[in-house]
Amino acid sequence: MVSDKLAVIVLAAGLGTRMRSALPKVMHPLAGRPMIRHLMDTVALLHPDRVVAVIGPGMESLAATVAPWKTVVQSERLGTGHAVMQARKHLAGFDGDILVLYGDTPLIGGATLERMLAERRGPRDPAVVVLGFRPTDAGEYGRLVVGAEGLKAIVEHRDASPEQRLIPLCNSGVLAMDGKRLWGLVDRLGNDNAKGEYYLTDLVALARGDGACCTHVEGEPQELLGINSRAELAVAEAVVQKRLRDAALAGGATLIAPETVWFSWDTRLGRDVVVWPQVVFGPGVTIGDNVTIKGFCHFEGCTVAAGCELGPFARLRPEAEIGEGVHIGNFVEIKKSTVEAGAKVNHLSYVGDARVGAGANVGAGTITCNYDGFNKSITDIGEGAFIGSNTSLVAPVKVGDGAIIGAGSVITKDVGAGSLAVARGTQMELQGWAERFRRGKAAEKTTGED
Ligand code: UD1
Ligand code: CA
Repeated sequence: MVSDKLAVIVLAAGLGTRMRSALPKVMHPLAGRPMIRHLMDTVALLHPDRVVAVIGPGMESLAATVAPWKTVVQSERLGTGHAVMQARKHLAGFDGDILVLYGDTPLIGGATLERMLAERRGPRDPAVVVLGFRPTDAGEYGRLVVGAEGLKAIVEHRDASPEQRLIPLCNSGVLAMDGKRLWGLVDRLGNDNAKGEYYLTDLVALARGDGACCTHVEGEPQELLGINSRAELAVAEAVVQKRLRDAALAGGATLIAPETVWFSWDTRLGRDVVVWPQVVFGPGVTIGDNVTIKGFCHFEGCTVAAGCELGPFARLRPEAEIGEGVHIGNFVEIKKSTVEAGAKVNHLSYVGDARVGAGANVGAGTITCNYDGFNKSITDIGEGAFIGSNTSLVAPVKVGDGAIIGAGSVITKDVGAGSLAVARGTQMELQGWAERFRRGKAAEKTTGED
């Protein structure tokens, strides 16, 4: 009887030496979150009964990130076969299928994994199903030796003969196995090979030796990209960005130059959003319908309601809540503030820890002085208020509904609804003074030269 029970083992104990980083390799981000989180989402699609991640010593942050997955520490890194042995204690009594994934191969698709499981549960009842692929450069990958009767063996590059090295079909590392037969095979893994490691790949030859069938399915090179260096991280980022751009376009957004727009894994764009070139969406951004985003904007942790016009060069920082039909123009930074429907902040402003009431107009160069070096304070701008250009609003301060602030003011006290407040030096004028000044100076200069 074919079981539909599934356990997943994720190998992630690798040091990632070539990353030259203090961070465990699989914690490096792709599209704004650790690469392991991408793999977690894909694994979740399979609804596994158990998941065990094999991690290295001192990787507490990784253990916390993968929770509720169980983790087991592989204290000595003795190979992929040895890593799988460590997971055994969490899989006692489990007799369904077991899938082995690599934490540093996070782009693998759920559909590919489904195909592997279908093959594993299919009529040939293979003990091991290996995911193969044909990279443009087969380099140092293990090679799949396939015969008429299925997969015969996996040979590691270092251990391969010159003829075997010519095989284009490579081992991605991903395996699906029959849990009932796995541990009996794993017990017999040895380390008599070029690296002196326990190779998980030897399971294939062992199973064949027992007379069991092994098979392979093929995946796309792009989804099987392994990340070992920062250069490979950048290649993987490009793949993820392409996927996110394609999804945004398919979802009804216009990207004028898609390859210049950078998304995070969770960016949400409404319908008929238009994004001009060179825009960055950091994590946690939601954009409503019919929003136009002009070039060179940078957003993170913000929500924008329908019909807004943003940028060029607008910066929305965490907890910026932008209401319907708002205009945020060039060189405007908004942080932890609510800008209510129809308000305009069009030029050269900093709005932090503030509310800008519906329909208010914040003039060019307005600054909320929200920080005194110790505490952050709130600025509250009422509905329909008009803040003249180059105003400093020294928080905590409140401008009432419909109030008008004269340009160049430094507002330190609350302004009542409907009032005019002007707080700047009074203008004075001395008629004819300039002419008298110039004449005097010219005379001084002539005398001096004598
Ligand atoms: C492995 C495969 C090779 C395949 C390649 C694909 C073996 C013997 N070889 O080689 O056939 O083409 O992956 O990328 O399996 N890991 C541990 N503990 C260990 C060793 C490894 O957790 O003791 C983890 C690593 O963190 C990594 C994965 O297993 O996520 C693969 O290990 P790595 O050493 O990179 O294997 P390769 O030599 O590349
Ligand atoms: Ca590798």
